[in-house]
Amino acid sequence: MAERAILTIGDRSYEFPVIEGSEGERAIDITELRARTGLITYDPGFGNTGSCISNITFIDGEKGILRYRGIPIEQFDRPTPNFIEAAWLIIFGRLPTKDDLAGFNVILTENAHLDESMKHNFEGFPVGAPPMAMLSAMINALSCFHPEYLKLSDEDTFEAAAARLFSKIRTIAAYSYRRSKGVPYIFPNPHLRYCANFLHMMFSMPYKDHVIDSDIEDALNLIFILHADHEQNCSAATVRVVGSGQANLFASVAAGVCALWGPRHGGANLAVIRMLEDVHRGNHSPEECIRMAKSQTSDFRLMGFGHRVYKNYDPRARILKAVCDRVLTRHHVNDPLLEIALRLEELALKDEYFVERKLYPNVDFYSGIIMRAIGIPTDMFPVMFAIGRVPGWIAQWREQQGDPQTRIARPRQIYAGPTVTSYIPIERRESAG
Ligand code: SDX
Repeated sequence: MAERAILTIGDRSYEFPVIEGSEGERAIDITELRARTGLITYDPGFGNTGSCISNITFIDGEKGILRYRGIPIEQFDRPTPNFIEAAWLIIFGRLPTKDDLAGFNVILTENAHLDESMKHNFEGFPVGAPPMAMLSAMINALSCFHPEYLKLSDEDTFEAAAARLFSKIRTIAAYSYRRSKGVPYIFPNPHLRYCANFLHMMFSMPYKDHVIDSDIEDALNLIFILHADHEQNCSAATVRVVGSGQANLFASVAAGVCALWGPRHGGANLAVIRMLEDVHRGNHSPEECIRMAKSQTSDFRLMGFGHRVYKNYDPRARILKAVCDRVLTRHHVNDPLLEIALRLEELALKDEYFVERKLYPNVDFYSGIIMRAIGIPTDMFPVMFAIGRVPGWIAQWREQQGDPQTRIARPRQIYAGPTVTSYIPIERRESAG
């Protein structure tokens, strides 16, 4: 007999089904709640609310487990990590064969360029404009240049649209950086792999190709893999909300970029570096940071720490911490910010405030230090997160579009405003006083 949940309201009891996922997570199915009881639930931030049933990513926050289509995240930390392979797995649901990968890479290479008039759009942005603003605007602009992908009627059309978006986000990101610095755009090079081509478009000059360091290319593949999906996080949930209104893939992902931008989400990697630089400049000691983070009167937070789901060490942070060591040692980079980060982690993990609230380093705590070491400009850090996350956004959007249970996302509310009142003509209104 399937498990039931019983809700008693006043003198009446109501039974609701309990559903269970493949990893034993359980939920009370309240799809009939309002119709049967007249009541709704209240859950700001949706910390207790499941919005969908998904097959893409599994997280066990208590145990610090993260798996893409069942594969533990640790297994992607291999000698030559392959972001395209992980992206294909996340989007299409299985590891690609050699032929799958070869075919996908051809489409990515053939579609890495931007429409010439798209490039003129960048000229409309002021030099120094934030790259995340340009990224979301130009991804949305893809809807203007690829009308054939606004309505994805079949699997082939979806794959064509997904590959174009996945390929072009890298070019748009690089051009956003080039525009913010006022330097010329660099065409994609069809002979370079995904991450190498990104580094080429970011750092080459018309008269001098950037020398691609294979170690840095590997580190970038792994960084993107570690950011590739994370179930119903703020930005993925945003992509689903926008997609639930049957907006196209480009518009939905552009909304995801906007949701990612904030310092509590994908902007945290930049906020971490700013915090570490602040300590390095001597404005605060690590001990003072911990004190401020604990203070109930300060809005200071230890950036890169804490997570809605992980109540254990974020497995991505653990891998990134090791990659930090590897990359800085190999490239003889002695970044004082790493010492400060390690000191902050040491202080926080033995402090009752953090231990009690189960606040651990998350994906953003070490990622910025590695990106600095491999030469990524600081203001591009949230953009790097977006490039990594785009396979996840595409996969979440596709899963939702194919889910027969999908309805337009339209939460309810509890109204707490004025009860019924009347309109007063302006001549009879008192001054606000
Ligand atoms: C990402 O959801 C995802 O999966 C996101 C992500 C992904 O891959 O998509 O993992 C990527 O966004 C990682 C998180 C990056 N953000 C930060 O590092 C910013 C700093 N962290 C926080 O602001 C916070 O921890 C959040 C936003 C990440 C989570 O916020 P919650 O779950 O809403 O927790 P909360 O704000 O209710 O905090 C609970 C308590 C509060 O204290 P009390 O009211 O109980 O006294 O913990 C405290 C908070 O003040 N707290 C912190 C803290 N994080 C939480 N105190 C100090 N420093 C922090 N970083």
